[in-house]
Amino acid sequence: TWTMVNIVDDAVETIRAQVGDKQVVCGLSGGVDSSVAAALVQRAIGDQLTCVFVDHGLLREGEAEQVEKDFVAATGVDLHVVDAADRFLIALKDVEDPEEKRKIIGREFIRAFDEAAREIVARAGAEGSEVEYLVQGTLYPDVVESGGGEGAANIKSHHNVGGLPEDLQFTLVEPLRWLFKDEVRAVGEQLGIPADIVWRHPFPGPGLAIRIIGAVEKQRLEVLRRADAIARSELHAAGLDREVWQFPVVLLADVHSVGVQGDGRTYGHPVVLRPVSSEDAMTADWSRLPFELLERISTRITNEIPEINRVVLDITSKPPATIEWE
Ligand code: XMP
Repeated sequence: TWTMVNIVDDAVETIRAQVGDKQVVCGLSGGVDSSVAAALVQRAIGDQLTCVFVDHGLLREGEAEQVEKDFVAATGVDLHVVDAADRFLIALKDVEDPEEKRKIIGREFIRAFDEAAREIVARAGAEGSEVEYLVQGTLYPDVVESGGGEGAANIKSHHNVGGLPEDLQFTLVEPLRWLFKDEVRAVGEQLGIPADIVWRHPFPGPGLAIRIIGAVEKQRLEVLRRADAIARSELHAAGLDREVWQFPVVLLADVHSVGVQGDGRTYGHPVVLRPVSSEDAMTADWSRLPFELLERISTRITNEIPEINRVVLDITSKPPATIEWE
């Protein structure tokens, strides 16, 4: 029978047979798929693997630390961190168009990854070995769709973190190629990856950049990150994480509205709560979260974040809307 233990054992054997004594590189995004793929390869070949994490500064609160500390502690991978936050901010300066944001982020990401991969290749070369393989967390549904990635790819040009650098020649290792998402999670648990990573909601490669309506700026990212952290922690406290497919929080940075606090008039920004339920992100419905939970989130966000004076709920299904606002 097909148990988790033999899925892991099989994958380990297949990986060993494929890569032999060659070196392997893997891009980590903080997401479930790349984490589980990396952990499997680590289990199979240990220190022949080097992971690269390009921190683009567009992740949610605590997510970079989750990769750099918790994931490394749980798996023992050799992690190469590229702190590229400033570089992404500069490249994104004044850019408002969603597709333009995606293009820039994709391009910068490949550049940063490429530089890191070249260093790893050079270092291995100096030690007399060769980097021949790149790990990708491709799942079975991606293979079947063969367009790669989400079905909405023709509506939004998706950039999944972990793209193959164009002129670096690697052969792909795809240990999740035969698995569905729930199996990937089970494998991740089996491998001892922290629950916060294994059960993470899907999160777009371009990150918080496409949840700021308007140009991406450092301070706007900080505001959105705090609002998002409040929404996530309250959802978690209410025990509803796994009921909800995704819970984007969107900052309408170009919109102001009048509010009142104490005796004072405020002129702040709204955030939009976008909790959705879905099976596969192709279609989605807005989640009927309990009013008490919504109220707690709204009160905390407006009390704790001075820049925000209004919290609104998105009650549109997909279609006609999409899950993300951009
Ligand atoms: P939409 O907004 O099209 O999103 O309903 C469908 C799913 O795809 C995610 N998404 C992205 N994922 N790069 C990604 O890796 C992207 O550019 C991107 N845009 C949207 C979205 O979070 C949802 O899960």
